[in-house]
Amino acid sequence: MKNQRLGRLVLAIFPLQGHTTPMLQLGNVLHFKGFAITIAHTRFNPPNPSKHPHFNFLLLSDNLPYSDTSTTPTIYDIEGINRSCHAPLQEFLELQSQTADVPVVGIIFDSIMYFAATVAHHIKIPRLVLMTSSAGFEQTFRAIPRLLEEGSLPFQDSMLHELVPDLSPLRFKDLPVSNNNMNETLKLNDIASNMKTFSAIILNTIDCLEQSSMLQIRQHYNVPVFGIGPLCKVAPTLFTSFLEEETSCIGWLNNQRAKSVIYVSKGSLATSDENELTEIFWGLANSDQPFLWVVRPGSVSGSEWTEVLPKGFKEVIGERGLVVKWAPQKEVLAHSAVGGFWSHCGWNSTMESLSEGVPMISSPQFFDQKVTARYLTYVWKVGIELDGVLERGDIERSIRRLMTGMEGDEMRHRANELKQLIDDSILEGGSSYNSLNDLTECLLAKNLPEP
Ligand code: UDX
Repeated sequence: MKNQRLGRLVLAIFPLQGHTTPMLQLGNVLHFKGFAITIAHTRFNPPNPSKHPHFNFLLLSDNLPYSDTSTTPTIYDIEGINRSCHAPLQEFLELQSQTADVPVVGIIFDSIMYFAATVAHHIKIPRLVLMTSSAGFEQTFRAIPRLLEEGSLPFQDSMLHELVPDLSPLRFKDLPVSNNNMNETLKLNDIASNMKTFSAIILNTIDCLEQSSMLQIRQHYNVPVFGIGPLCKVAPTLFTSFLEEETSCIGWLNNQRAKSVIYVSKGSLATSDENELTEIFWGLANSDQPFLWVVRPGSVSGSEWTEVLPKGFKEVIGERGLVVKWAPQKEVLAHSAVGGFWSHCGWNSTMESLSEGVPMISSPQFFDQKVTARYLTYVWKVGIELDGVLERGDIERSIRRLMTGMEGDEMRHRANELKQLIDDSILEGGSSYNSLNDLTECLLAKNLPEP
């Protein structure tokens, strides 16, 4: 390991799985580059310091009325977290500037933890934002105020499948908004509009995958933009899960034929009701394909885990299917037995799947997932669209299309081509490799735009 005295970086994490994972991965990469790392985190959903002995940790009081992992912070909680965390971070940095022998050379924060930018401005150190979603999502989200102004939002149900003006190939149904909750959307947009005042933007993406969106982001923001993904590959061996991974499923995968298993997971936030879970079960059971299915405890309303499934469901699926509470997902997707991923299209899951050349069935539930689903199915052509009310017949047909049909083979072929491009981007001379070096040099040369 290189010396750790190039400077200290403080990384402010937003306490949800899909946000914590890429920030810890980035911390690992920058630690390897020679920086000392302090992870600033809330009391809610803290990372486990014993899993990251090479980091320092700074607990920020979040004042949230709950601390269990099954609760999801709302937009109002986000405002509260930003208010509460400000003073402790500022105190820490002021003390560091007087006493520390390794100076703090920058703060990298999740776009939702925007208080960190104000603190960095006060202390006069660079403030860099990590976007944990895609570049396509950033571009889309930025267009929302324009669409509101033009009167295109809220949109009529009849417009669901129409293309959004100047946002092709997105349809209205792909927009990361809820017609019923424009206020929330506008509040989040206020947060996003701060981005112009940051020193740099870091994205967990690959330039060649999102060329047009990256170009537009670079044109819009007059600061350096670093596409350094996929972080799951750049920092591969890091333990980041809040829930315990059921590693025994790898033994089950070892007994399956190559590319025969469909892996099913809705990530860390999406939920189902009893009826949907039952339809998913029958869709999987009737597809005749081996499957590994993650049902997160508490993700089905009114149920602890799988109690709502038909009695004797284990006998119906026998050895052909395995249901787990939380999987070692990166290992699963890298396994030779896995031939498809039925996903909610969270950005981390998408990066992890594409990095392994695994094509997907896209069932987005909310927000950025809808944008990513459209890119998967329409732009990269490595995904089958399965959204709306899930019904067992549609599920069965989609699985067969992906896992046994010619269409699925073609998608697997394209997914492998993308995997090759992704692999190249992180090798010496590749775009992500170069971006990461540029980011390191900017931090060391202290030549990021003055905040
Ligand atoms: C959500 C958004 O959809 C995402 O795009 C946004 O950037 C963060 O919030 P989430 O629902 O958590 O994220 O999905 P995703 O971004 O895919 O992250 C889930 C993570 O959990 C992945 O890294 C995945 O590997 C991991 N996971 C999931 C497991 O390790 N095991 C599982 O069983 C399921």
